[in-house]
Order: sequence, then structure tokens, then C-alpha cells
Amino acid sequence: MRFKDKVVLITGAAGGIGSATAKRFASEGAKIVLVDMDQEGSEKAAKKLNLNAEDYLVVKADVTKEEDVKNYVKEAKDRFGKIDVFFNNAGIEAKYESIMETDSDAMEMVLDVNLKGVYYGLKHVLKVMTEQGSGSIINTSSTAGLLGFPNMAPYVASKHAVIGLTKTAALEVAAKKVRVNAICPAPVDTDMMEDIEEASGMEQEDFNVAIPLGRYAKAKEIAALVAFLGSDDASYITGSAYTIDGAMTSG
Ligand SMILES: NC(=O)c1ccc[n+]([C@@H]2O[C@H](COP(=O)([O-])OP(=O)(O)OC[C@H]3O[C@@H](n4cnc5c(N)ncnc54)[C@H](O)[C@@H]3O)[C@@H](O)[C@H]2O)c1
Repeated sequence: MRFKDKVVLITGAAGGIGSATAKRFASEGAKIVLVDMDQEGSEKAAKKLNLNAEDYLVVKADVTKEEDVKNYVKEAKDRFGKIDVFFNNAGIEAKYESIMETDSDAMEMVLDVNLKGVYYGLKHVLKVMTEQGSGSIINTSSTAGLLGFPNMAPYVASKHAVIGLTKTAALEVAAKKVRVNAICPAPVDTDMMEDIEEASGMEQEDFNVAIPLGRYAKAKEIAALVAFLGSDDASYITGSAYTIDGAMTSG
């Protein structure tokens, strides 16, 4: 029960990784704020937490809109009085096409969610956490934040940027006892990878060839890392980008 009496805010909470992470934190005693633009999906994920109604909150938000981000932070604060852990996780994949084929709208759309959404989240949650003098933030990057991948330029650029934001934020708030880390998963068994498989015309087995462990990560394996980074077990870890990639980036 590492998160008894702790408040955990999760964006992208209706999705594969977000909902699995909400489950993990809830199972360790946390109160959960589920944020997503997919309200129905968030409600569904919330029902699976087996929490009493007073121990969770669902907030609809589009993370690309600063007003929505301000609002989810305010709602969390009004309801629970604090935010102990923030999983800044909402994200989208890009179309599968080369840089020469990528138009500026496609680039902008991905950067809006994956970069600006993460930046707005940091901006407004950090205000709460620095005032508290405590907190842990985990931003979702990707192996695409560490390596280039052909035909995925907007996604790759956005996920590299998340690591830059993470390191900068960690330096800015370390003195206030707030930690900020990123995670860099290899393909995870969620809807997002199904979309990427479909767009690229590749199968899971084709992607597995590049992963020494020979398989996708499970969402609950990502959740375990997020819970560790959010907990006091990780009290000296800040400014790090954690690979969770079956050795995909080790070669
Ligand atoms: N699945 C993978 O293979 C993989 C690998 C590495 C990193 N990631 C990253 O993990 C994170 C979660 O991905 P997932 O696999 O759970 O995908 P997912 O598609 O299952 O979930 C993403 C969630 O984000 C929400 N979302 C999208 N745009 C939003 C917006 N503007 N405002 C609010 N919510 C929004 C969606 O509604 C969805 O519920 C993403 O940042 C993704 O880039 C995924």
C-alpha cells in the first residue's frame, strides 16, 4: 500500500497504459483522478478500479487546450486538496509517412498533443507540487524519444522533446523536492500499436524482431515502472529517462 492517502492524476487514463496504471496505483491505496478526452472510456476505466465513488474523479479534458489543463488540475485540487503523483501520459501516434510526405498539419497535430499537452500538464501541476514541497511526475516518452524511426517523424520529434522537457523540469524544481522523470517504452500491447501495425502494414511479429525479449510490453509492466517512479522507493531518482524496452535500444 505505497500510495495510501496519496492522490494520483493520470492523463490518457482511458487508454491502454493509462488505465492499467490507474489500476496499479488504486491497488496500492491511491485516490485516482482520471483525465482523458474520451469521457466514456475514462468512466469505464474508473469502474474497474474497485474504488469507492469518493476515492476517484473523472475529468474530461483535451490536453492541447490550456484551459482544460488548468481545469483538471483545479478539479483534482478542489476534490482531494493535493496531487502527489502526476502521470503525464496522453499521446497520439502520427500517420505512417516520410518527412517528405508529412504536411505541417500532421506535424502540428502530434506536437500539440504529445509536446504541448505534456508542457501544459507540467506547467500547471508543477505549480501545485512546488507549493506543496513534494511530488513526483512521470512523463511518457518512448523508445522513439531515443532513436529515429523512419516514417514516424512527428511522433519521434515529440517524444525526443518530452525527454528535454523532463530534464529541464527536473532541474527547475529539484530544490522544491519535486521529482520529474520520463519513461521510454518499446511497443506496448495497446490500441496505439494496433493502429501503427495497420498503418505500416506490419504485423506484431515484424516489430518483435527488433525487440531482444521478442515481444511487446504489457501495459501492466509499464504501470509497475510508473508506480515505482511515483513512489518513495524512487526518492533519489529525478531527471531520468527510463527505458522499458526489452533491450530494444541496447544494441
Ligand atoms: N502503445 C505503445 O506501444 C507505446 C509505446 C511507447 C510510448 N507510448 C505512449 O504511451 C502513452 C499512452 O499510449 P497508449 O498505448 O496507452 O495509447 P492509447 O491510444 O490506448 O491511449 C491514449 C489515450 O490518450 C487519450 N488522448 C489522446 N489525445 C488526447 C487529448 N488531446 N486530450 C486528452 N486525452 C487524449 C486517448 O483518448 C486515449 O485514451 C502515449 O503517450 C504513447 O505515445 C505508447
